[in-house]
Amino acid sequence: MKKFNSNNHEVNILRGLDGVVAAETDISFVDGVHADLYYKGYNIHDIADHTTSYVEVVYLLLNGELPTRKQLKEFRVKVVAEMRIPTQVIKMMEIIPPSSHPMDVLRTTVSALSQFDSDSGDNSQKASRRKGIRLIAQIPALVASLYRIRRKENILSPDPHLNMAKNILYMFHGNVPEETHSRAMDLLLLLHADHGLNASTFSARVTASTQADIHAAVSSALGTLKGPLHGGANERVMKMLMEINNVEEVDEYINSMLAQGQRIMGFGHRVYKNEDPRAKHLRKVSEELCGLSGNRKLYQISHKIENIVLKKKGIYPNVDFYSATVQHALGIPKEFYTAIFASSRISGWVAHILDQYSNNRLIRPTSKYTGEYNKKFVPIARRKTPDTTPVQR
Ligand code: COA
Repeated sequence: MKKFNSNNHEVNILRGLDGVVAAETDISFVDGVHADLYYKGYNIHDIADHTTSYVEVVYLLLNGELPTRKQLKEFRVKVVAEMRIPTQVIKMMEIIPPSSHPMDVLRTTVSALSQFDSDSGDNSQKASRRKGIRLIAQIPALVASLYRIRRKENILSPDPHLNMAKNILYMFHGNVPEETHSRAMDLLLLLHADHGLNASTFSARVTASTQADIHAAVSSALGTLKGPLHGGANERVMKMLMEINNVEEVDEYINSMLAQGQRIMGFGHRVYKNEDPRAKHLRKVSEELCGLSGNRKLYQISHKIENIVLKKKGIYPNVDFYSATVQHALGIPKEFYTAIFASSRISGWVAHILDQYSNNRLIRPTSKYTGEYNKKFVPIARRKTPDTTPVQR
């Protein structure tokens, strides 16, 4: 649709910035046509099948190359050492009302962490990188600590011998996870690590483009991730699954939602028009974990939903759909699903924020003005209250 903006320039308004190229980056590429995803040139299927851990992916996103064994070990030790949370911030979490959503607590505490960071006030590229690595380590620690505060259990310190995925599960549940679970957590984290110019990453880059500090940019991203059309979808997927008692009920439940024009959470994508490549890996793990935990029904319900939505709407599941059942099998309560998403996407946000700082130009789009011009200004003393007396019949 051709429109004119306030400068009388002819413009195309692209609702939701659909198809707009707003940045140049080599961090990741979402190939919607071929349903592929690349991190620094590596196909997500190779990353999912061959990387040893999520931290290996974090190293790749921040350094552009896969690490050697020695580099990975050093980096893992460094990241795990940064998982410590200042006591003042733990105290904040303890006094925030227990009814608050974990994403709200996360946004608040990440903002607070900026005041306690040893590099606070230094926004040089080197200091921002140090702060970014700290946030990559601290966000999952905040999430696990909040979970234990809510359950009135002792907060656990990270174990320096465990990798990030194992530490997250250990800091949640208090025991070192078995291999199937830690591998599932690794996969979950590495599949969520980055995804082109998604809404939260864009939001982080917009804030970074004003030369605001990295904590400010990550706080913006956290606010954006929370919404149900973005990271908040995984929690709603589980809510829906919990409302369906058995496989026989799926048809009626989904058909009635579609008939009412409601969206099925965990389906559809702005860029992928075929299957989200990340869903393939999570579907497999979901089936495995649901089977192992004696909850195969949950997987069967999910799979039936997938078939119906594809048949009726031609829409495929996205990353959030099977992430719900995987997290459920890992013992994470649904209110924490989006916070676990954030615990991984923080690595992509940091990579993009540093990228933005290194080649910055203020991100400032324009809009088409639809209001009036030169309206008669009435001074306050002469303004009249509109007559709201009901019409007498
Ligand atoms: N369930 C049912 N219908 C859906 C749908 C869903 N999950 N996602 C998209 N659609 C339909 C819309 O109703 C619309 O139909 P219409 O043209 O008949 O009105 C059409 O598909 C296009 O949707 P649109 O909102 O324009 O697509 P978008 O690119 O703006 O939205 C999402 C992308 C992700 C926001 C959208 O697919 C969605 O809301 N999904 C559910 C939330 C979710 O899982 N988010 C996580 C994304 S990773």
